Amino acid sequence: MTKAQIGLFGLGTMGSNLALNIAEKGHAVAVYNRTAEKTGTFFENAGDLRERIVPCATLAEFVKQIKPPRPIILMVQAGKAVDEQIAALREHLDAGDMIIDAGNANFRDTIRRYTELEGSGLTFVGMGVSGGEDGARHGPSIMVGGPEEAWIRIQPILEDIAARFHGEPCAAWLGPGGAGHFVKTIHNGIEYADMQMIAEIYGILRDGAGMAPGEIADIFERWNAGPLDSYLVEITATVLRTRDAASGKALVDVIADQAGQKGTGRWAAVEAQLMGVPATTIETAVAARSLSAEKDLRLAAEKAYGAPAAPSITADAAFIDDLENALLAAKVAAYAQGFAVMEEASSEFRWNLPLGMVARIWRAGCIIRSQFLSEIATAYEASAEPAHLLLLPAFMKTMSGASPSLRRVVARAVEAGLPVPALGAAVTYFDAFRQGRGTANLIQGQRDFFGAHGFDRIDGSGEHHGHWLRT
Ligand code: ATR
Repeated sequence: MTKAQIGLFGLGTMGSNLALNIAEKGHAVAVYNRTAEKTGTFFENAGDLRERIVPCATLAEFVKQIKPPRPIILMVQAGKAVDEQIAALREHLDAGDMIIDAGNANFRDTIRRYTELEGSGLTFVGMGVSGGEDGARHGPSIMVGGPEEAWIRIQPILEDIAARFHGEPCAAWLGPGGAGHFVKTIHNGIEYADMQMIAEIYGILRDGAGMAPGEIADIFERWNAGPLDSYLVEITATVLRTRDAASGKALVDVIADQAGQKGTGRWAAVEAQLMGVPATTIETAVAARSLSAEKDLRLAAEKAYGAPAAPSITADAAFIDDLENALLAAKVAAYAQGFAVMEEASSEFRWNLPLGMVARIWRAGCIIRSQFLSEIATAYEASAEPAHLLLLPAFMKTMSGASPSLRRVVARAVEAGLPVPALGAAVTYFDAFRQGRGTANLIQGQRDFFGAHGFDRIDGSGEHHGHWLRT
């Protein structure tokens, strides 16, 4: 076989599926894994694709099997392993070669690694890959950060392996340095918010209206044919409908109510805070997962305060319609927050992130893929200036129509004692966002009272201090 066009290091779930995807699209790929047995098993199971896969037992052989200048995708566990393997690869690579970190890196690590490799003759690219196992195998959404020349070199392969939305590849160069991994982080933050809001609606129907999983599945399935059409709503219906072979019950009813998290949603919330951008729905979704993990504490609290009230909500057609609109309005608020964080990061790191393009490459392949993202892409691309999503005409129309439902649903849930942290954060974010005169005048008064921090006046310029009454 002639030399491979690309190398892939790391044959975990994501790496092996990505390697098969590359081979299937007609590109010869050299593969290597720290534990050599995995490389052997992977190759044995690759079927017809074996003719375009070069399994390598050592790093030296792996590098030798790739045609220079070499693009090498690194798909190992995020963190220390990436630094270790960059150092190991450096021993074997030549000037012009490129290391593409496709793992779930923190974008600040990506910026550091990029800087560390500057001047070495090697190029470093941070690439966000979304879509899970299935996405990696059949077409993920690919978010690339690094030098534009590097993107131009690897673009043909990446566009071949990416998901497609009406023929358009869901892969793009988003900016230098950590831009790709940052956008992936925000994608995951939005994903947490989407999933939490869906779970809260499920909670209202389960605990408020006393509905069975199958009945709730019917509702989500119906919604998936409307404006909420999305992968997450679709799989929610399927998850709710699946039965457990062992107990005969709905599988969802035997799953422990403690959510795991790998950290990327938390990074999104942390970055939003560091940049001073309110992203309360995303932050709340992360916090809700943390609270879900505190099972013992929650059981003790339920014992201390009493079990929740019996179902008290009548889920008639009007209420179900309200729930659908509530989820839509809350989704707009959550996405608006995520996009606002990206806009701030774009100016802070001088990435010039193409927000319309971000929405475009999220339309297929990734976990938050949806019809809704097409509307975001169109709305951003129609706007001359970067604007807050809530101020783009298409979304102003959606919010004007759907936000009263969100308000009614949150009010009803709060009244019934049903937790709706993310939906509640969405409506209160919207209300605070659209309030021309807020209440921070009182905060400024308090700050000046105890700390002489000063304040602006509405009727004059300059900084002022109050002559406060003191007892
Ligand atoms: P996934 O979820 O895709 O399976 P992961 O757990 O993030 O992946 O990473 C697993 C991959 O990272 C494996 O290929 C693993 O190699 P081994 O099969 O040898 O365990 C690789 N990996 C983890 N730590 C590594 C390290 N320090 N050096 C090299 N590869 C490492």
